[in-house]
Amino acid sequence: MADNERTNVVLGVSGGIACYKAVELVRLLVKEGYPVQVIMTRGAMEFVAPLTFQTLSGRPVATETFNLTQESEIGHINLADSAAVFVIAPATANVIGKITAGIADDLLTTVLMATQAPVLIAPAMNIHMYENPVLQENLRKLRRLGYHLIEPAEGYLACGYEGKGRLPDPEAILEQIRGLIKKKDLLGEKLLITAGPSREPLDPVRYISNRSSGKMGYALARAGSRRGAEVLLISGPTALEPPAGVKLMPVTTAAEMRHAVLDEFATCTAVIMAAAVADYHPVGFSQQKIKRDKKPFDLRLEPNPDILKELGEKKNGQLLIGFAAETENLTANAQKKLHAKNLDMIIANDVTKEGSSFDGDTNIVTIIDRGGAIRSLPLMSKDEVADLIFDYLLTLRH
Ligand code: CTP
Repeated sequence: MADNERTNVVLGVSGGIACYKAVELVRLLVKEGYPVQVIMTRGAMEFVAPLTFQTLSGRPVATETFNLTQESEIGHINLADSAAVFVIAPATANVIGKITAGIADDLLTTVLMATQAPVLIAPAMNIHMYENPVLQENLRKLRRLGYHLIEPAEGYLACGYEGKGRLPDPEAILEQIRGLIKKKDLLGEKLLITAGPSREPLDPVRYISNRSSGKMGYALARAGSRRGAEVLLISGPTALEPPAGVKLMPVTTAAEMRHAVLDEFATCTAVIMAAAVADYHPVGFSQQKIKRDKKPFDLRLEPNPDILKELGEKKNGQLLIGFAAETENLTANAQKKLHAKNLDMIIANDVTKEGSSFDGDTNIVTIIDRGGAIRSLPLMSKDEVADLIFDYLLTLRH
């Protein structure tokens, strides 16, 4: 089935008290013009009648009690194929366990098994169930396999406890859905993205590095791949799972990163250097562990090559995007780097600002392009920043 025929938001509702919020989610989706197909589990029908969802979505709800006529008209594979995005909200611990184990023993899990659409799962349950290590392990597995998860909210739970486990507000789920059904506007792009820190070894047990978490680069890789690009992620050491569909090439030192980037440069259409490449490495590497001494220890460093500058000299049609981590004179310093490295766009952030640090999930950036446009953006998630960078990249392309 062609991508443009996958138009439905397929919403799987499993049995929990938060089902009433799924009703509101359907209302919001319909109001925004999304065609919604609801699938309910048997448990969900104990909380809300299918008629409620049917009335709001304007379509019969698919349930386990699907009869053969309905199956031949709608069919579980057709349902799976019609999804632009597949959402499960609320997702119970049971449904999450079944998905993780590959069990498809009801309509919801069967359709989910057959879908190729991005899947968004919104867990909602009692706080102790949510904290259960088995459930947490399942969530980690799903994340690793490329499922999108929306964290439960904190607050008063229907079971009487206070804590994490509430289904997030329907608006928050809607926002994630919007992001996931972005069109494939980066089809044909071959992106080379670097991420994370580099590590410059001193001896077998020590190295010099920086606080980069890699989150910005990984968010770019995720967004690029979701929007249809072929993505190669050249990453220094991080604690992150590589996004689904992205080719990961792990490196350690700046020299290794340079090597990998230069090898791939000719065949890519754009490079985004989000890595925090160390500017220096220790002179010489001690084969043995350097022993403690009473005297001061002088560490001599020599410069690493500037990878991005080298790309700027070599570029042949590729778009080049750099980052500028600054602590002062943000715009002026970033503009200098844009010109000195022959870039098409630079993303500058003040790493001293709260919400804009190396290892957080958010960023506050100023995006400057080669035409001189300067856009200062408010605090947003690194995923949102990534999407905006690609919107601007497309503007530059055209
Ligand atoms: N960069 C690179 N190679 C290096 C250092 C940096 O390719 N050896 C890239 C970074 O990935 C980033 C951009 O250059 O996209 C700017 O990095 P930044 O550390 O902000 O600037 P520097 O050029 O290193 O200048 P300074 O450290 O003096 O601010």
